[in-house]
Amino acid sequence: MNENIQTLKKWIDESDNVVFFGGAGVSTESGIPDFRSVDGLYNQKWKYPPETILSHSFFERNPEEYYRFHREKLVIDGVQPNRAHKRLAELEQEGKLRAVITQNIDGLHQAAGSKKVLELHGSILRAYCSRCRRPFPAEKMNHGTGLPRCRCGGIIRPDIVLYEEPLDQDIMSEAVHYIRSAEVLIIGGTSLNVYPAAGLINYYRGNKLALVNLSQTPYDSYADLVIHEKIGEVFSQI
Ligand code: OAD
Repeated sequence: MNENIQTLKKWIDESDNVVFFGGAGVSTESGIPDFRSVDGLYNQKWKYPPETILSHSFFERNPEEYYRFHREKLVIDGVQPNRAHKRLAELEQEGKLRAVITQNIDGLHQAAGSKKVLELHGSILRAYCSRCRRPFPAEKMNHGTGLPRCRCGGIIRPDIVLYEEPLDQDIMSEAVHYIRSAEVLIIGGTSLNVYPAAGLINYYRGNKLALVNLSQTPYDSYADLVIHEKIGEVFSQI
């Protein structure tokens, strides 16, 4: 175990107030591509840029094309939590970790057993009618063909935050609360490029901020500890 991982382990061992804030890089070791790495979703060829497809106005204008992308790229069958998800769930059970705050929409933290998960960008495991708001089975939305419709005639949409849409303010406030009061904050698997989520880092007041990310982020110089390694490998050692 290298020195940085040892330090992170020590911080966690000595604390009962650890908070984790993560993104797509947490799930790459489960086989879900992230967005901005070379093999990420935003570097794959598609008729429209993915940031455009994942926007509110595009969904309204062209829901059929949205669903082609959604079913082909966002829904990945058979994925399982990896060592990072599992270790985070254990740390919560051990009374050390207070919350997981995630930008991911894949539900893998809950699948690993984490209870307190704040999903800033929603989940593709939930769906509802864009007209009457009635819940709809996500399985049918994710795996069906054609445009999923509610019995009221409205188009079904995933319960995710599309570009141009605001984040849920209650979830944001709770995330701010956990980060503001955290003793150890671990941020992992996120490029910290997308706001307002990335701005959450500014609420941390402590002196044990660890960044675990394969590539550099704009906040590396802000952190007390930076580990540029695979998060699953790091978490399997702590
Ligand atoms: P990004 O794709 O922007 O960043 C993922 C980061 O994880 C990159 O910096 C990678 O280097 C790193 N990474 C990849 N695999 C890793 C691993 N095994 N261990 C450690 N680090 C790894 O994804 P996010 O920051 O999550 O929003 O992107 C934020 C938001 O942008 C997403 O929630 C999504 C997207 O547009 C919406 O759809 C609203």
